[in-house]
Order: sequence, then C-alpha cells, then structure tokens
Amino acid sequence: MNVEYVLKKSSLSGEDLIFLLGLQGEEKKKLFQHAQQVKADFVGRKVYFRGLIEYSNICSKNCYYCGIRASNKRYSRYRMTVPEVLEAVDFAFRNNYASIVIQAGERSGETHIGKIESILKKIQQKTNGKIHVTLSLGEQTEDTYRRWFEAGAHRYLLRIEVSNPALYLRLHPANRHHDYMKRLEALKLLKKTGYQVGTGVMIGLPFQTLSDLADDLLFFREMDIDMAGMGPYIEHQDTPLYIHKDTLLPLKERFDLSLKMVALLRILMKDINIAATTAMQTIDPQGREKALMVGANVIMPNLTPVKYREDYLLYENKPCLDEEAAECQSCLEARISIAGDEIGYGEWGDSLHFRKRGESNIEH
Ligand code: 5AD
Ligand code: SF4
Ligand code: FES
Repeated sequence: MNVEYVLKKSSLSGEDLIFLLGLQGEEKKKLFQHAQQVKADFVGRKVYFRGLIEYSNICSKNCYYCGIRASNKRYSRYRMTVPEVLEAVDFAFRNNYASIVIQAGERSGETHIGKIESILKKIQQKTNGKIHVTLSLGEQTEDTYRRWFEAGAHRYLLRIEVSNPALYLRLHPANRHHDYMKRLEALKLLKKTGYQVGTGVMIGLPFQTLSDLADDLLFFREMDIDMAGMGPYIEHQDTPLYIHKDTLLPLKERFDLSLKMVALLRILMKDINIAATTAMQTIDPQGREKALMVGANVIMPNLTPVKYREDYLLYENKPCLDEEAAECQSCLEARISIAGDEIGYGEWGDSLHFRKRGESNIEH
C-alpha cells in the first residue's frame, strides 16, 4: 500500500487504518501533514480552552488502570466546596475561556446528583449563561442526565475507554458496575438527551492491538460523536494493571501511536472537536503542541485548586501539580503559539459537527 493513495480514499477501512497506524519515518510525516491540512481546512487553526475543574476524586468504581479507583486507599478523598468551584468558574469567565469542564469520579446518589445540579444553576446565574459547561461524571441514569441538562450542562464526556467488549472485560472487574453494554447505552442516552457528546479511548493498554485501535476509530465514526479525548495509557503502581507493565510498548511508542490516533481521527471526522490531552504531555513535554499540530483543536487548562491536584492522579507523572491556573494559562498560550495556532478566546467553540447534526435534524 502507498500512503498518498490511501489518504486520497474517500472512506478509510479498518485495513487502511491499521496500515496507517503502522507508518514510520517519512511516511508517518506525510500522514501528520495531511491531518494538519484537514484541520486547517475544516476547523481552522484555532484552539479552544476548556477550563478543567477536577471537582472530586471520590469514585465508586474500580477500573483496573486508574489511580483513583475506589480500592486505592493511598489518596485522601476530596470534594471541592461550592465557593471553590465558583471561584474556578470565575477565573475562567474573567479570562474569557467561555467553557469549562467539571470532572469527577463516578458516583450515584441523590446528594451528589443534587449538588451538581445546584452548582450548574449557580454557574448559569453567575455568568448569565455565558459559560458553557461540559460534564465528565460517568454513567448516570437518563433522568440524571436530563436534570443536569436542564440545569445548564450541554456537553458531556464519557470515554468508552476501549471499544472492544472483550478487552473492556479484561480492564474492568466483571460486575454490573463495569458493564460495557451499560456504558454504550449511557453514550446513547446522552445523545438522546441532546448533549454534544464526547468519548475517547486509552492508547497502548496491555492486550490492545493495532486492530483494536483501528476499530476504536471506526467506533467513533459509527457513533457519530461530536468530541473526542484520547491519550496514552500510563501505568500507575497502585493499580492491578501495573503487573503488566513489562508487556507495554515503550512510552515513546505509546506517545507516537497516540499522535497517529489523533491524526487519523481528524482525517476520519473532519469537523469534530479533538482534545490535546494532558496524558500526551505526561510522556513528552511538548506532547500537547504536537497533538495540536496533527489535528487536535481543544486544550483543557487545569483550574483545580493546587492543594487537590496531588490527589487526582489517575496516572503517574501527571504534569502541572504545582502550577496555579494563571501559570498554566500563560504556559499554554506560549505552547499554542509555538504550534502555530491561535486561541479562540471568548468563543464557545462548539463542535461544528454537532451544529451540522442539529441543522440536519431540523431539516428532516
Ligand atoms: N492512564 C491514562 N489515562 C487514564 N485514565 C484513567 N486511568 C488512566 C491511566 N492509567 C483516563 C480514562 C478516564 C479518564 C478520566 O482518564 O480514560 O476516562
Ligand atoms: Fe473511577 Fe473513572 Fe477512575 Fe474508573 S477511570 S476508577 S470510573 S475515576
Ligand atoms: Fe500547566 Fe504548562 S499547562 S504548567
């Protein structure tokens, strides 16, 4: 197969994707250049900020890869207070971010659900509805998704983690709280409720093959998602998956594969929003800039109060543990301009894909 020929195809097959994921050297560069051109042509060279608020590290689940899984007793568990959340929102608002993400471990229960609902309403009041809110709070019932939507959240991130159900089973405890079909169902419910929906996967997991990754990309297309966040898997010593660390691809290769995934997703789904994730920067100090240069167009500066950051370590060596929000902001401004992009301050940066989805819904 020849790269130029494959990249010119109007639709890429699983086989094409596996081929492209394996490219090296000059051929890999061609893939990256093509993805950068697609980004410039379809979404422009703008990067949107989503201020990230890591609201709580309390989680009822036990994913085998995650540092804040319920059984890990090493971290003290926290939940940000409402004034702390509002202060972070205020920072985002004053700095013209236009959009924030509230992320936390997965919990059910009325107290949690009601708290989020009330925070959402307060954010609406405080910012006159000018800040867009994305939630990343795991699987919930349809009713909960609706309540949060009505309280002002219009985007939701729920990573499928891996789209292969058999692999999913090897990475999670086999019980009803970690059920692939339920997760898939949750993604569908989010769409039905009217959210802009984001999903994503981890790259370089134990047992994962190139064919799994190609299928992940096809899964995104099939689900017709609006946003994606993907990053390399990074082992954490307090997790069950750590015993497989010697079977993993070297970090640099995991990073490279993640860049290829970003590039290929940009080519496959030209008008969606794709995040340059923090996990990319964990492996390579310029990881996020590199992701922007091959197709990503969203960055999530961390707004979590510094005192909580050590306790939100999903994986090891997570960056920005001591940097206050303002420091991350100036750091990212510099990084984005190095990548040759411009920050879309004050713009919501809705997924163009979602807007088109809406228009075609009206037409039909
Ligand atoms: N390495 C990389 N990403 C991880 N996540 C959880 N644990 C890890 C890890 N060890 C990701 C999952 C989750 C997101 C919040 O963080 O994809 O959805
Ligand atoms: Fe909880 Fe999410 Fe970590 Fe799983 S990945 S243990 S749901 S925080
Ligand atoms: Fe936090 Fe660079 S993004 S210090």
